[in-house]
Amino acid sequence: MFTRRVAVVGTGYVGLTTGACLASLGHQVVCADIDTAKVERLRRGVVDIVEPGLAELVGEQVSAGRLSFVVGAAAAVADHTDGLDAEIVFLCLPTPMGVGGVADLRAVEAVVEETRELLAAGTVVVNKSTVPVGTAGRTAELLDRADVAVVSNPEFLREGSAVHDFLNPDRIVVGCDTAEAAERVAALYARLGAPTVLTDAASAELMKYAANCFLAMKLSYVNAMAELCERVGADIGDVTDGIGYDRRIGQAFLSPGPGWGGSCLPKDTHALLQVADAADFEFRLLRATIDTNTRQRQRIVDKVRAAVTGRRTGSLARVRLGLLGLTFKAGTDDLRDSPALAIAALLRQAGADLVGYDPALVPDPANPDKVAPGIVDGEVEGVPLVSDPVEAAQGAEALVVLTEWPVFRTLDWATMAGVMKQPVVVDTRNLLDPATLRRAGLTGIGLGRREA
Ligand code: UGA
Repeated sequence: MFTRRVAVVGTGYVGLTTGACLASLGHQVVCADIDTAKVERLRRGVVDIVEPGLAELVGEQVSAGRLSFVVGAAAAVADHTDGLDAEIVFLCLPTPMGVGGVADLRAVEAVVEETRELLAAGTVVVNKSTVPVGTAGRTAELLDRADVAVVSNPEFLREGSAVHDFLNPDRIVVGCDTAEAAERVAALYARLGAPTVLTDAASAELMKYAANCFLAMKLSYVNAMAELCERVGADIGDVTDGIGYDRRIGQAFLSPGPGWGGSCLPKDTHALLQVADAADFEFRLLRATIDTNTRQRQRIVDKVRAAVTGRRTGSLARVRLGLLGLTFKAGTDDLRDSPALAIAALLRQAGADLVGYDPALVPDPANPDKVAPGIVDGEVEGVPLVSDPVEAAQGAEALVVLTEWPVFRTLDWATMAGVMKQPVVVDTRNLLDPATLRRAGLTGIGLGRREA
């Protein structure tokens, strides 16, 4: 197997996973970040991101001499550990949602500016971040180097299983207008044996949005279907089970919830709407997907209101509620665009008195100074955090499960019920076993469930 010299710019969850996994495939990788303190920590093997297997892989690859860390993109592309320039440069940079849902490309542009004169002839620059269609072309223009190819190679990693997803991909997508450069990038992954789609850059860029927006649409559809189930006395679990056996639909991504969130799906759905608007295409299906998701949050608040007060219009003023789970999904400490926080904000607006428990946000006694991003003075967006689920239940008129942490299934629900003011659990993830709750003396209310 051949080894390539690879530079990865940006050590977020995509960049660090890409760097460590490419090193594990035998390549020689240098990862760069502008955050000097972070680079120092990474050199010592300290990984800040909660991502299963990542810290171990980073440690292993650093020890094996295949992975190193430097400050700044310039050092990564031109000052490789073995004194040779990088052959392939991955850009794994943030592309946050800017004004009006347009992706903000300033980080990508800054790195291009910083490195354009340093790249060796024949280097391939690969964009891994989710970027608007046309970015590869724009990057090539900014680079203005006929001897450097720009390739789009979107990532399809989920937070919480990024290492697994990288090493077990459903497919590799490589888009470039030069076949030779695309093949060089595809060859980096040859050992994974995944189906590879070689295409032009614009199609590769669009493919990423097409995938994420389809997933968002699937979830909005399921959440709407759960609501319909409640109205007609059907059960969403049985319905999704049944449709999931149809191979054209599949079982995955069919769990109703408080709405989809995180750093990708909300950003990408808005960005694709922008792309459609700019192309003078009214993408109604996508707009409805987003609207359904926004409405889902209000629907959860209405459910809580009805559960607590027994009335659709009852007041939540000064009602104490315990929120179980605040991260956007289980297996991560990421709070970005978390539906749980959006719902918490609506509940607070309605006057509720909130307290939150999340297993990923409990202070670590071994590392008391480490605070997850988003926590300020023991609060997340105004929701005080407690470090024990029973504390969240104390005096609560209802508990609201917002993140599907498996540990919630096996909580001591009888003890929880014992300290609550009113034994009600609104389970927005249909995570808990209704019979277990009943035995503990609790009324469980799920989404689209027959019992609801
Ligand atoms: C998503 C995609 O799944 C990845 O393929 C993609 O690479 C990534 O975005 C990205 O663009 O980088 P991620 O944001 O980590 O990954 O989260 P998902 O696992 O997709 O979950 C998104 C949201 O949907 C979460 O709020 C989750 O709770 C919700 N969800 C997911 C449900 O409500 N029900 C489900 O059945 C599945």
